[in-house]
Amino acid sequence: MRVNGKHYRTVWMQGSSVFMIDQNLLPFEFRIYEAKNYRDSCNAIRTMITRGAGAIGATAGFAMAQAFIESKRNSDVKLADLARKEIESTRPTARNLFYATDRIYKTGLISVEKAVQEAQRLATENIEAARMIGKFGNELIGEGCRIETHCNAGWLGFVDYGSALSPIYTAAGQGKDVFVFVDETRPRSQGARLTAWELQNEGIPHVIIPDNAGAYLMSQGKIDMMIVGADRIAANGDVANKIGTLEKAIAAKEFGVPFYVAAPLSTFDSNCQSGNDIEIEIRNQDEIHYQTGLDAHGKIQKIMVSNPGSEALNPGFDITPAKFITGIITEKGLIKPDSCSIKKIFE
Ligand code: MRU
Repeated sequence: MRVNGKHYRTVWMQGSSVFMIDQNLLPFEFRIYEAKNYRDSCNAIRTMITRGAGAIGATAGFAMAQAFIESKRNSDVKLADLARKEIESTRPTARNLFYATDRIYKTGLISVEKAVQEAQRLATENIEAARMIGKFGNELIGEGCRIETHCNAGWLGFVDYGSALSPIYTAAGQGKDVFVFVDETRPRSQGARLTAWELQNEGIPHVIIPDNAGAYLMSQGKIDMMIVGADRIAANGDVANKIGTLEKAIAAKEFGVPFYVAAPLSTFDSNCQSGNDIEIEIRNQDEIHYQTGLDAHGKIQKIMVSNPGSEALNPGFDITPAKFITGIITEKGLIKPDSCSIKKIFE
């Protein structure tokens, strides 16, 4: 996507370094982070310099390729196995990470060059899948459609285009007059910071809403549909996504608002029979106690926003059962969230 007229991917590899947009500084500062080795890339995933299932997957693939480069350079044959464990221990929920490490590890056993090529190929496929999700999702979007979205499942969550936002970009690109309600998405505000920044950059009308305003707006008939991303989709169609997604899905069902999930096939996990098999990341409670933002002097500051003496619990994701989902928008088209339809799309 374009930033100040220049095209950017969210993450890319050049030589043995991986470069990525530092999403912890957005929207207040636009800076590129350079991960010089696989451990830097692991740190970038863990600390959410790069985040979002698609971007995490691409970064994990590049990190695996970096590990093979370092393994050859240091003649350390065990390094790639160690690195795979470290990359896979960064964040547990996004299936795309494990899809990437498995794929690049297997090619790395053939040669380092093949590992790098495969990681590049995975990133390119990620872009093409996101573009196709946009094409199929656009078919669901009518003129004047008012869409709510949760977290950031835009191009910053992938390598380009995004998942949930890709249909919106395609619709707007075709001149459809769409409007977006952006859930702020506490505690890290991926909506208020990243999705709002993307939509502003693309000139798409939108408004930021408190997370707990969605049900009310749906009850007032102000939302025509909801589109969200996904981190892992079980064989029965249950979906793991950013915490707060489940509440929106229940409200959407109650008020008859179509609820779509947008995700590529690399997010589906046939090893998980249902959402109960999906590991939910519990993140540091400081993400709830503190907020980072711009102070009156234009300086990025971290401030405490909760009672100092209280503990906080910070699950990063939740599980939306298939029964609350209208459909899943994939790069191969729209499917029903059930075992048969999912099996068929992999045939
Ligand atoms: O914790 P995050 O920011 O990595 O969570 C991201 C989400 O939940 C997204 O909705 C999902 O990964 C899809 S990103 C295209």
